[in-house]
Amino acid sequence: MINPYLVAQYAKVFPAGTVVFKEGEIGEDVFLIESGEIRIKRTVMGQEILFAHLGPGELFGEMSYLTKERRSATAEATKESRILVIPGEGFAAILRNHPKLTFDLFTALVRRLQETDRHLEIFSISGPLERVVHYLAEGSAEALPFRDACAFLAMPPEALEAALVRLTEWGVVSVSKGMVSVLKKHDLLHYQKLLELRKRHEQDKPG
Ligand code: CMP
Repeated sequence: MINPYLVAQYAKVFPAGTVVFKEGEIGEDVFLIESGEIRIKRTVMGQEILFAHLGPGELFGEMSYLTKERRSATAEATKESRILVIPGEGFAAILRNHPKLTFDLFTALVRRLQETDRHLEIFSISGPLERVVHYLAEGSAEALPFRDACAFLAMPPEALEAALVRLTEWGVVSVSKGMVSVLKKHDLLHYQKLLELRKRHEQDKPG
């Protein structure tokens, strides 16, 4: 538990939609979310890529402090969020005094690495339908916003929509009010295997 005095000293409320900082900015403050939700995203060639949604107890902005590089991504509050804005040197002192926080930070960084591996895996899939199927079949979410799926997959909305139409026809997925829901995970996993087999068959074809 962080000293309540520090909490009062550093706490700041960010209304929904506030950009906490932008990718490329210089900054050494580290942010600890008390309540609310922060979206971490980057824009590449005009296409938004979603890295993560972070919630209570999670840290962000630690990379610039640790590496002294510019902000690697944009952080935006998706809901009203109460956040501890800790100056870099204060963060170092907190880590020294709270070994558990250092451990939690380490664990969070490993989780991010796992997520990055997942991103790389998905980006290595060239077909849009295959990419969407892999993402939904391997993911843990039963329902997610269409916008987030686009941003995570780095796909234009039309391409994701076309793939989802196919999956809706198959009855494995439904799309309603901007939410994508996985209806039959088991069938989706079968479909994924089928697409993999088809791909392998195409690769093995002579000539
Ligand atoms: P920093 O580079 O200071 O600013 C952007 C922040 O986004 C970064 O620190 C991390 O805290 C966070 N961040 C960057 N990449 C990821 C990722 N792949 N997953 C979750 N958070 C990230």
